[in-house]
This record gives sequence, C-alpha cells and structure tokens, in this order.
Amino acid sequence: MSAPVPQPGILDIAAYVGGASAIAGAKRIIKLSSNEGAFGPSPKAIEAAQQSASHMHRYPDGGATQLRQALADRHGLDVDRIVCGAGSDELLSLLCSAYAGPGDEVLHSAHGFLMYAISAKAAGATPVAAPEKNLCVDVDALLDHVTDKTRIVFVANPNNPTGTCIPSAEIERLWQGLPSDVLLVVDAAYAEFVDDPDYSAGQDLVEKADNVVMTRTFSKLYSLGGARIGWAYCSAQIADVLNRVRGPFNVTSTALAMGLAALGDEEFTAMVRRETIRIRDHVTDDLHKLQIKTTNSVGNFILMNPGTGAGRDAEACDEFLKARGIIVRRVTGYGLPDYLRVTVGTEEEMSAFLDAIRDFMNGAGL
Ligand SMILES: Cc1ncc(COP(=O)(O)O)c(C=O)c1O
Repeated sequence: MSAPVPQPGILDIAAYVGGASAIAGAKRIIKLSSNEGAFGPSPKAIEAAQQSASHMHRYPDGGATQLRQALADRHGLDVDRIVCGAGSDELLSLLCSAYAGPGDEVLHSAHGFLMYAISAKAAGATPVAAPEKNLCVDVDALLDHVTDKTRIVFVANPNNPTGTCIPSAEIERLWQGLPSDVLLVVDAAYAEFVDDPDYSAGQDLVEKADNVVMTRTFSKLYSLGGARIGWAYCSAQIADVLNRVRGPFNVTSTALAMGLAALGDEEFTAMVRRETIRIRDHVTDDLHKLQIKTTNSVGNFILMNPGTGAGRDAEACDEFLKARGIIVRRVTGYGLPDYLRVTVGTEEEMSAFLDAIRDFMNGAGL
C-alpha cells in the first residue's frame, strides 16, 4: 500500500523549534528565549481582547480594515498597499509560495532568520545562503549570489539572531543591484528598537520600487506574539497577489482588536521601547565588562559569545543558566554554536541574568 507523498523538498525541512519555555523541576522561570516583549501587552489591548470574546460567533473583518487604516495613518502609508497576516511569518511564507517554486532560488544571508529557508523549501524552491561579514548582512555577497534562478531576496534588518542591521543606503544599493523581477523582502520585525538616523525600516524604498516588500510585526514592540499579527507594505500588484493567496479570515477578530488597541496606546508603547533599549544597552555594557563579546545588537535581544573551552562555552553557559531557572536560546541551528541569544527582559529579570553570568564567568559550579 502506498502512502501520500509530500511535495519534493518538504521532508528536507527541519521544523522550526521555538524558544523553550520550561525547565523540568524549576519553580521560577525567566524566559529570555523568544524575543517576546518583556512588559506584556498594553492593558488596553488586553481589554480589547476581552471585549472581542463576546463577538466570537462572527467571522473577523477579512480586510482588516480598521487596523490597516490605523497603520496607514500612523506610518503615512497607502492603506490599499498594506496586507495583514497571522504574524509576519505567514506573509513570508505566502510570498515564497506566490513568487518561488521548484527550480527557483530564494536568497538570504548566512545567519538570516530561519523561516526564509523553511518557507522557500515549503514552496519547492531552493534556499541559498550568502556569507555575512562580521555577523552582518553583506550586500556584495548577496549580489554575488544572485543567479537567473533567484526569485526572492530576504533581508532581516535588524537580523535575528545576530541583532545587526545595515543602513538604508545599503538596502538601497542591494535593491539597485537586483534585476527588477526579483522580489526584495525587507523584514523589519525589530525596526522599532533601532535608534540610528541612518536606518530605515524600508517603507521609503517600497514607495519607489515595485519589487520591494517591507514586513512588520506586532509580536515584538507590541508584545502580541501570541495573537499572531503582522503586516506587509508593498506595491499594489504584490498586495493584490497576497490578497488572492491568503486565507479570507487569516487574522482573528481578537488579534485585530488587540493590534488596534495596542497601536493606539502610544504612552505604553513609548515606555516599552525606551525601557527595552535602556536595559539592552546597560546589559550589553555589563557583558562587555565581563569580557563577553556581543554583536551590539540593535533589536530587543543580545547575541553573546560567553567563551570557549570545555565548561566555559555556550553549551556550558546555557546549562548553567538553566540551573538558575533562566532560559536563553542556543543558536546552533543558525550556524552559531558558540553564541547564545538573550531576549531583553525586565530590569529584575536581567539583573538575575547578569548575576548568573557573573557567577559563570567567575567559575562557580552548577
Ligand atoms: C526577523 C524576524 N522576522 C519575522 C519574525 C516572525 O514574527 P511574527 O510571525 O511573530 O510576526 C520573527 C520572529 O521572531 C523574526 O525574528
């Protein structure tokens, strides 16, 4: 008897493994493994979710009309060119299945976000990784790897897990070097945490280019990872394609309500942004004082190399932290076995993290 066989490439996919959230036997956990917002959702978003429950017999507004309008007003965008998704992950995957298939190549940087390769393979396409320079996207290397089979180039800016970003001029140089029928996707999931005048999330490029998509998320700054809301800004033609291939009700009513309320709560959002940046920078400084190398991440997480040698490396450090109830993320799957990715938590969480790291560096036993 023969069993159903998936499309070629599907069984080559190593399923994405999210950050752990439990440690056997530990009572108190500090979860710093998934780049989630440290401060929880805005109280207004929580209230909106509660209110949405009583309308749950109705399908959501499939056009996400109010949320898209609010995003357009906030960012000065054309509302008709915004498409919402169940997290930006959904949009990345829809872009792959709409624009790439068997025989096509999907290009990303060596330590780029894992979902690019997964979504490419799910679409039957071949992911291609271009090397990075100092754990940072290298535009020349990306351009060197473009072939006549390349259909999509993904750049996370800032990138997860490296935390590094490239200036808008570099993104523009990449776009200029690409054939006009290759799609450039600028994944700006962590845009709001960047404090650099040379940085842009990519909307200015979308305004002048028909082959550029900017993706954004409510999972990071707005701490709504569990609600699953992301959005894309792109040309009218690409928006039309995304609207044809997405599910008619791909974003739930609760997610839409929470997103709208979160976007409206400017005071809370400003506090989250300010505090996350402040805590990130002081933890980075403290790690440097302990001679721990980091990439000076501009996201809501830090990529650090605790050291080398038996008992002193990333694996040992991860075990040490776990024994203290602290979960960070090993990034071996990203080709970075010597590093740990640490999400920026609250002041209290990060102070427990730093205490543990100091003990680890001072050679304390488990
Ligand atoms: C670079 C990057 N892009 C996209 C996503 C997906 O975000 P979401 O699907 O929650 O919107 C993540 C999540 O960690 C990410 O790190």
